[in-house]
Amino acid sequence: MENLLTGMEMSQQQALDLIALGKDLKANPGKYSQVLAGKSVVTLFEKESLRTRVTFDIGVNKLGGHSVYLDQTNGAMGSREDVKDFAANISRWADCIVARVYDHNTLLEMQQHSRVPVINSLCDLYHPCQAMADFLTISEQYDDVSKVKLAYIGDGNNVTHSLFIAAAILGATVTAVCPIGHSPDAQIMKMAEGIAAKTGGRINVTNNLEDIKGYDVVYGDTWLSMGDTTPLAEIKAKFMPYQINQALLNFTGIKHVLHCQPAHRGLDITSDVMDGPASLIFDQAENRMHIQNAIMLTLINK
Ligand code: CP
Ligand code: NVA
Repeated sequence: MENLLTGMEMSQQQALDLIALGKDLKANPGKYSQVLAGKSVVTLFEKESLRTRVTFDIGVNKLGGHSVYLDQTNGAMGSREDVKDFAANISRWADCIVARVYDHNTLLEMQQHSRVPVINSLCDLYHPCQAMADFLTISEQYDDVSKVKLAYIGDGNNVTHSLFIAAAILGATVTAVCPIGHSPDAQIMKMAEGIAAKTGGRINVTNNLEDIKGYDVVYGDTWLSMGDTTPLAEIKAKFMPYQINQALLNFTGIKHVLHCQPAHRGLDITSDVMDGPASLIFDQAENRMHIQNAIMLTLINK
């Protein structure tokens, strides 16, 4: 595994090793305080971020390394200079590139022209660091993640795709419950199903909340992803029945709640659930840092 662009680069053993390393980094930070000494990571953002920006920055620091944040004020990628030159230059100075981009193809081009590992920190199609943090969080509650049934509710998007891929690799079950017209990408689902066929994982899509009765974990995301300019008023009525609220937890019997955040209280999730006993949402946000440190350590110090 040399890069992390889609998540499909990982074998099941590599995914389990990353989760185990993430847990050890969390439990024993002192052991890892200098493992990236002398190393530099460039984090590059075409889109907004709170969690990803801060967790990579502080995360690199906790491993003894140095991070450089680049946003679009330094010249939009592909505009001031070509993406390939951007990547070729950065990889002569840095030991790893972390990039949040609009178009997955930008990451493919960066990888092609980079001498150092490239990590996808969200694009239009995937959010692999998020999904690995999610399964680390689940594994803190359930000994065997392959037995866990997770229901993703909302728009079929980058987060849904990465949950499918991670679940397929780990042999878990993910059902996406999406309003009509908002299903995940059929091609990515097919690829995830191909992986799941070998691991015993299950990937499903439905628009019926009845189908997730008896599931273990429910997972939410924003109804409108970054870059989607659809007015909220246009989709609100369609998405409201899919809100994560106490009635949904009562109806399904689901015990744990995840949300990648940013959350929109009163829309995709209610405040009582987000702040309530079923919520693992802030553990999940903390775990972004631990799993990303595991990923960087694995890719940089190969
Ligand atoms: N979940 C997540 O990636 O959050 P940010 O967009 O704030 O980085
Ligand atoms: N699907 C969301 C995830 C944000 C972390 C988006 O792409 O905006």
